[in-house]
Amino acid sequence: MDLIENLSIKDLYRLHEEGKLSEYDQKEVTLGGFVKANRTFGDVGFLAINDGSTFLNAQIVYKSSDNDALMAKLGASVKAKGVLHVTPENKQPFEVVTEHVELIGGVDESFPLQKKKTSFEYLRNYPQWRMKTNTFNAVFRVRSTLAYYIHEYFHSHGYYWIHTPILTANDCEGEGQTFNVIADEKHPEEYFNKENVHLTVSGQLHVEPFALTYGKVYTFGPTFRAEKSNTVRHAAEFWMIEPEIAWAHLSDLCDIEEEFLKYVVSHTMVDCKDDLNFFAQFVDKGLMDRLNEFVNTPFARVKYEDAIKILQNAVKDGVKFDVSDIQFGLDLGSEHERYLTEKVFKGPIFLTDYPKDIKAFYMKQNDDGKTVGAVDLLVPYIGELCGGSEREADYNKLLSRMEELGMNIPAYQWYLDLRRNGSIPHSGFGLGFERLVMLVTGMNNIRDTLPYPRCYKDMMF
Ligand code: 4AD
Ligand code: MG
Repeated sequence: MDLIENLSIKDLYRLHEEGKLSEYDQKEVTLGGFVKANRTFGDVGFLAINDGSTFLNAQIVYKSSDNDALMAKLGASVKAKGVLHVTPENKQPFEVVTEHVELIGGVDESFPLQKKKTSFEYLRNYPQWRMKTNTFNAVFRVRSTLAYYIHEYFHSHGYYWIHTPILTANDCEGEGQTFNVIADEKHPEEYFNKENVHLTVSGQLHVEPFALTYGKVYTFGPTFRAEKSNTVRHAAEFWMIEPEIAWAHLSDLCDIEEEFLKYVVSHTMVDCKDDLNFFAQFVDKGLMDRLNEFVNTPFARVKYEDAIKILQNAVKDGVKFDVSDIQFGLDLGSEHERYLTEKVFKGPIFLTDYPKDIKAFYMKQNDDGKTVGAVDLLVPYIGELCGGSEREADYNKLLSRMEELGMNIPAYQWYLDLRRNGSIPHSGFGLGFERLVMLVTGMNNIRDTLPYPRCYKDMMF
């Protein structure tokens, strides 16, 4: 009999779904993976193994005289060679019946995972192991799939991927929340011949020139913020996706953002259906309804000024916020954002035209003299998912805003000059990748969406 060695567990389930698994019935196969469960009933034992290719496990049937198999505890790696049986009568569509299971790597008492349910907090102590649990196994597969569809969307819609630098001498958001980079403490300026070099907080400034040449571009990479905030939505190191589109005005930007997010989420829902079913069952009961609504319902579009009125009326009606003095100019907190999206609009909303004083210097100045063409996308349970704007394309207007803010003009002259040499109206936004992973998995702490979280006062190794 030919031995079939190169199948993954995912392949087998795919063949089953395509109605082709019977071709493998009674064939000899090998499967390798780690043990999720092991139990015996009289003469036979059952191993559930996972090889990471899919959420689903394969069932290995062994003889209870097989000592290797008996010793294969949760987390051990095994290789099983045996005959595949298609089992339409069982819960699993197939099983592999072996003469002998090879125990490749056993586990000892240093292995921290237990059969019983462990908390996400406990598992944060073990980033090197937690992806072997159902939840984290699913999280990182969803994360990878989302990244794939982000690239696929852009590639199929005519965008070019630009690799903006991680080391930079500019602070895009102007918040001063940067990690400094020093090669030599005694001579901090020597290496780059620059006073302030830090890790990027956004690739936007560096990607804008590419948009003015290639039309549609995006960045997708690690981003760093030294915010001293210990929340479930902030990480010191996170990934950001930043499309930048020439000729686009604010409403075009909202259209693109909505189409892009719906594309990425709906494709991931199909590819990762087993993972998402698990999340819907064990992590977040409302997940599927929320995701279906996310991909099928138009996002509301609301002006900041109107949102303020809604919040003021809510306060009048007795709604309690920590910050309840709500006036035009308030930088909305996540309590306000979540009230708007969860209680009032009950779905994602684009909030546009913020006061210029609470937004970054580069945003297009509206004719009213007090607001800018900014847009934040707010979603239930997370708050801000994306932040973006139309960019100020007029040299003098941008210069006077930067002067007003007391910025170091010479350091940004290269950026300003884009407005006097072939300027084009353009817009862009930044999507926090981990917040998207939170949205799609229902995980409610950003630390549980990053393979190795780096957060305020929190870095394992
Ligand atoms: O709103 P932000 O600060 O916008 C920018 O950086 C713009 N330059 C983007 C652009 O227009 N190209 O950040 C964008 C998004 C936020 O909406 C949020 O989802 C995410 O990045 N984000 C964070 N995610 C995790 N941890 C943090 N500390 C984050 N800070 C921002
Ligand atoms: Mg923002």
